[in-house]
Parts: sequence; structure tokens; C-alpha cells
Amino acid sequence: MPERKFFVGGNWKMNGSKSSIDGIAKFLSDGNLDPNTEIVVGCPSIYMDYAISKLPKNVKVSAQNCYKVPSGAFTAEISPAMIKDIGSDWVILGHSERRNVFGETDDLIAEKVAHALSEGLNVIACVGELLEERESGKTQEVVFRQTKKIADKVSDWSKVVIAYEPVWAIGTGKTASPEQAQEVHEQLRKFLKENVSDEVANSTRIIYGGSVTAANCKELAKKADVDGFLVGGASLKPEFVNIINAKQ
Ligand code: PGA
Repeated sequence: MPERKFFVGGNWKMNGSKSSIDGIAKFLSDGNLDPNTEIVVGCPSIYMDYAISKLPKNVKVSAQNCYKVPSGAFTAEISPAMIKDIGSDWVILGHSERRNVFGETDDLIAEKVAHALSEGLNVIACVGELLEERESGKTQEVVFRQTKKIADKVSDWSKVVIAYEPVWAIGTGKTASPEQAQEVHEQLRKFLKENVSDEVANSTRIIYGGSVTAANCKELAKKADVDGFLVGGASLKPEFVNIINAKQ
């Protein structure tokens, strides 16, 4: 089975300032970051250039969204070409806040994924069910529907990380238990096996997001199909270093 490098993403969301980025750069530079973890932080686009200049080189900077075409009359949007131009290779797409606060659909997200990949970016593609969907037994159906739309647009899976983020666990302090996370991650890997290939199922990182902290990351990281994390609130704090080092 191919080795899946442990992957820890940060998602600063709409948080930060130059001075807080200096603080994050300091704790990341001072921390002993596990060289076996791939680290990518999602930064507000306006600060990406600054973050790239300040963060240690082993911490990559990602955009938190992008549009589906290279340029044009799309006020306030940014394109993969712009992300690459300022020196980043990553974008987060389909985050639940984009889906649920800004109304992005499965189809739009799939088009964005297709364009980002065609421009050479790596993509953290997010999926996850709402609380009412989980409570009505629809978790697998929802997560498979979201993943299928994305999967149909992917030709190079080495550039994709799937983030499973149950919406009820995001920013709520209510983490999925390691068993709940493992159950969905295992289903997603099976989905990739059945709909793409064994090779892609074995090599694609499936990371968990939703109230990950220094206190719960180690137990989650022990699960066979949990290949890392997407971390919101805690990625702004020094405990992010502990999460990066969860496998140690
Ligand atoms: P949280 O956010 O860690 O603050 O719950 C996770 C995310 O939205 O990616």
C-alpha cells in the first residue's frame, strides 16, 4: 500500500492581521515541526503574499477559495493563475462555510476544482454533512453526492486531498469521535476504490476537520483512514504545533 504522508492543513478563515501572522510565524518557526507531516495553511487572500514571506518554508500557504476561470469581469474573485503568480500552489475548495453561508453548490465547487487542477494547483476539497442530515441517517448519501461531483472532475488525484468536515463539528467544540470520523473516512476510501481505482483509494489523503485541538488530535490520528486534519480555530494558536506533531 503506498505511503500516505500525514497532512495537516490550517484554515485561518477570515481571521488575522500582519501582526498576528508574525505571531503564527514565530510559533511555527520555534516549534519542532514533524518533517513527516505536510503542512499547508489557508490564509485570507489579501495576506497570502505576506504570509508566504513570513512563514517557515516547510509551511505552505493556501488560498481559501478561487473562481472557475482565469480572469475577467468577476468583481472580488481571485483566480488560480493569481494564486500561482504570488507563489502558492494550494487552494481550499468547497468548505462548508462557502457551501452554507455563501450558497456555493456542488456543481460550482466541481467546476472550481476542475479549473484549479487544470491550472496546476493542489486542492483541499471539503465535504461534510449538516447536523440534520446526520440525524436523519443521510451522512453517507450526502458525503458521497458531494464527493462524486468533485471526483468526476479529477484526473490527477495526486493533487487532491479530501477533507471530511461534518458541519456540526466545525467551530462548535463538538468533535466527531475517532470512531465517527473513521467510519466516514473508511466509506470515502471505499467510494474511491469503487468509483476511481484501488491505487487512488490507497494513495489519497482523507483528512478530518471539525474542532480538532491538541487535546483530541492524537486519538483521531490513530485511526487507520484518518490521514491528517484541517484545523480552523486551533490553527491560529501555538497548539497547532501539537496537531502537526500528532503522530509523534
Ligand atoms: P474548526 O474549523 O477547527 O474551528 O472547527 C475547521 C474548519 O472549518 O476547517
